[in-house]
Amino acid sequence: MSERQIILCETPDDVADAAADVLLNLQTDALAQRGIFRIALSGGSTPNLLYESLATEEWQADMQWEAWEVFWSDERCVPPDSADSNFRMANESLLKHVPVAEVFRVRGEHPVPDEAAQEYARTLRSRFGPGVPAFDVILLGMGADGHTASLFPNHPALNSAQLIEAVVVEQKVRNRVTFTLNLINHARAVIFLITGAEKSQRVRDILLDQRRDFPAARVEPDEGECIWLLDHAAAELIR
Ligand code: 6PG
Repeated sequence: MSERQIILCETPDDVADAAADVLLNLQTDALAQRGIFRIALSGGSTPNLLYESLATEEWQADMQWEAWEVFWSDERCVPPDSADSNFRMANESLLKHVPVAEVFRVRGEHPVPDEAAQEYARTLRSRFGPGVPAFDVILLGMGADGHTASLFPNHPALNSAQLIEAVVVEQKVRNRVTFTLNLINHARAVIFLITGAEKSQRVRDILLDQRRDFPAARVEPDEGECIWLLDHAAAELIR
């Protein structure tokens, strides 16, 4: 695993701008080497600023949208028009405003989460071919409990050898479909976008105290980059 890169920003807007910069560089590399840019978007609220920023004229011109294939690192088991849908959030803030080549959403509306997970794994194999897909970028957030994507502490999905798992978490919103660590750690680059004081203790636990008992701590790409973008509040206890 390569060393984590920690980029300290001041505000959530600065985190979004820094993420857009990193994405531009990663897009350039991907297109030069493979002529395609495959990205998995994160859910939650933090990345919304990034998506909105990418949809502005400033960034629209820089991104070669026609080479983008868009996926999700997790999704709630809800219809695509639900307020809880990670697809809906990204579509409203970015995707309906830019001409990306292809969008591959998880069918959250599928009545059986396990089958939605298996269907998504088939979708990945249809795009990437055999073996473990190597995304150019996987965007991730982190909850205050140290979860990432829909991989929650002490959940069996953390040790899955699959690409995608369905996750039933009683105290959480909805059932979910999630990338596994097996898939995440095969990425060429993983970018965490983390803001807010409520994340600061977990950021310290993972980045300073090197604790590995949280799912976000186990994101350690085999060969890829792992970039943590933090605002001032989230980085309060590691400065
Ligand atoms: C989800 C996300 C989840 C999120 C974290 C942080 O579907 O909710 O994948 O892992 O990234 O919970 O959420 P916030 O960005 O809203 O703090």
